[in-house]
Amino acid sequence: MSRKLFVTTALPYANAPFHIGHIMEYIQADIWVRFQRMQEDEGKPREVHFVGADDVHGAPIMIAAEKAGKTPREFVAEIAAGRAAPLNGFLISFDNWHSTDGPENHELSCEIYRRLKAKGLIATRTIEQFFDPVKQMFLPDRYIKGECPKCGAKDQYGDTCEVCSSVYTPTELKNPYSVLTGATPVMKQSEHFFFKLSDPQCTAFLKEWTLGQVDGHPRLQTEVANKAREWLEGKDGDDNALTDWDISRDAPYFGIEIPDAPGKYFYVWLDAPVGYLASLKNYFSKKGIDYDAFMADPDTEQYHFIGKDIIYFHTLFWPAMLHFADMRVPNNVFVHGFITVGGEKMSKSRGTGISPLRYLDIGMNPEWLRYYLAAKLSDRVEDIDFTGDDFIARVNSDLIGKYVNIASRAAGFITKRFGGKLAHGWTSTPAPVLDTLRTASAEIADLYEKREYGRALRQIMHLADEVNAYVDEHKPWVLAKDPEKSEELHQVCTRLLEAFRILTIYLKPVLPAIAQKVEAFLDIAPLQWTDVSHPLADGHAIRPYEHLMQRVEQKMLDALFDAPAQAAPAEKDTASTPAIEPLAEQITIDDFAKVDMRIAKIVDCSLVEGADRLLRLTVDAGEGRLRNIFAGIRSAYRPEDLTGKLTVIVANLAPRKMKFGISEGMVMAASGKDDAGIYILQPWPGAKPGMRLR
Ligand code: 2FM
Ligand code: ZN
Repeated sequence: MSRKLFVTTALPYANAPFHIGHIMEYIQADIWVRFQRMQEDEGKPREVHFVGADDVHGAPIMIAAEKAGKTPREFVAEIAAGRAAPLNGFLISFDNWHSTDGPENHELSCEIYRRLKAKGLIATRTIEQFFDPVKQMFLPDRYIKGECPKCGAKDQYGDTCEVCSSVYTPTELKNPYSVLTGATPVMKQSEHFFFKLSDPQCTAFLKEWTLGQVDGHPRLQTEVANKAREWLEGKDGDDNALTDWDISRDAPYFGIEIPDAPGKYFYVWLDAPVGYLASLKNYFSKKGIDYDAFMADPDTEQYHFIGKDIIYFHTLFWPAMLHFADMRVPNNVFVHGFITVGGEKMSKSRGTGISPLRYLDIGMNPEWLRYYLAAKLSDRVEDIDFTGDDFIARVNSDLIGKYVNIASRAAGFITKRFGGKLAHGWTSTPAPVLDTLRTASAEIADLYEKREYGRALRQIMHLADEVNAYVDEHKPWVLAKDPEKSEELHQVCTRLLEAFRILTIYLKPVLPAIAQKVEAFLDIAPLQWTDVSHPLADGHAIRPYEHLMQRVEQKMLDALFDAPAQAAPAEKDTASTPAIEPLAEQITIDDFAKVDMRIAKIVDCSLVEGADRLLRLTVDAGEGRLRNIFAGIRSAYRPEDLTGKLTVIVANLAPRKMKFGISEGMVMAASGKDDAGIYILQPWPGAKPGMRLR
């Protein structure tokens, strides 16, 4: 049978650059896709289509665009323009990158909705929701804060209390306020559209899809199936625990307008996954491939790589929407865990996260990261941890020590001693090490297919160990000293290059750029999986060997985790001269007491158009209102680094009118005498907004 694959990764929100979690997912999917592209079915290359897109709709993006002084379309276009560099940089081989605002997505989303409606699966109901009277818009739960109804803690979000962990609805909050304007929200009615997931036919279909088997195996990963069972059956094992899904939002909203319902838009999570189809359709129209025929073909297989935080949408809403719209349902979703850095949950803040662009900017090799992450990935929904020491050890000992060294040890002799030509007649004498390498092909392929990359790489490195044992046994450097052993040297080095070629096939899904260099160096066509059994030809001429990969150096890891402002410090000797600026005049305790410094939470942060040095911070100093502060820290921080963080402000500084608005306080930041960067303060854990510094 000839396989046809349609593969996607989750569509990232178009409000920020990629973080390392996105890159991990793209690497995981890209390895699988590249492995599939190396396969043949009935002598023809397998058909594989791999697409992505920006997820651009929804209230947060609309609000972020407004803050940036742009239309949502301008705002997301700027984010989209920044996608190619990291995708190319990490060798992610998407066939297409599109947007959920493309015409294909508008059409497909409306078509799915119409079909669901025709099936009687759309209901309308009037609901009551908080409305911001200043902004004239309904407020999503995350834009409402207030006092916890249980413990009274201030500034808690509309769903859970961070202090006492109770769970409630936004309407239960005491003294609620809109995070957008600080206004007290009012309750307002609105008609909403619902997808009737509680309909027994939906539950029946979803039970079958999530808990059923494919080819005698459970479809979903165990952890994912367990989650789905919990949602479908409820904690008490109900027959039907699903509730209807609210799929509409009222204007103003950046999204797709619902057919025949002016002022009503699809909730972003309805049109987001449809974006998978839209990107494929857009790609096919550029390539002249028939989208409808491909999607109607029962042999087509559709897979989505996603993170564990969006299982609900992909195992319940998405298959049900498609099934009841009479469209093809995904064959599976492949769920991964999160990436932690040094054991800490990934954070976009400085120091703990890894910035993908920074990784590339400082010249780190993308294939190091691909290899390192692949070595840790499995088919389970586990978090994986990035640790600097482990990274250095794994890359240097496996990739350089075990793999690259095989080529560098053999190629020099072939070039210098044998005019760049391989030996003759070497294939007719037994070579158990090559047999071992070839025999492993099916098992390694199976591990890639199952996304057990860590196990595949362990197996490949085990084979590399055997090849290195062969080197140590035959000692080419000793053979090279004896003119009578010249033929043996030629044979040994030829076999080593063949072994290296086979290892390169096995590593190619993970290390595509290295594989390309090896293909050039061996002067062979792009390697496919079946080439395992097509050895290098007798007397084949190779090109001179050029070094394939550098070792990782500790200083690169240091630079990776350095704050951007500290990157690449100038080499200078500061030990002999005092480096700090002179102290200010002495003050009394009463003088000090005049300055009221408070802990404040940065609830939002954005660029200020026309001011290169400034960031606009919306801070919450526990006063039941939000303050606007302009801070000259743009050279050191990106808005996403700061949002959600606690810091220290001078709270009783007279408000200052600036060109861009009023600044109501000052953010405390450290800076040196020289141009040594700017560092804002962050309190120890436990500090709360409003606490005073004494
Ligand atoms: O969680 C997220 O980042 C979403 N933007 C993922 C959407 S995946 C798909 F449905 F588009
Ligand atoms: Zn509470």
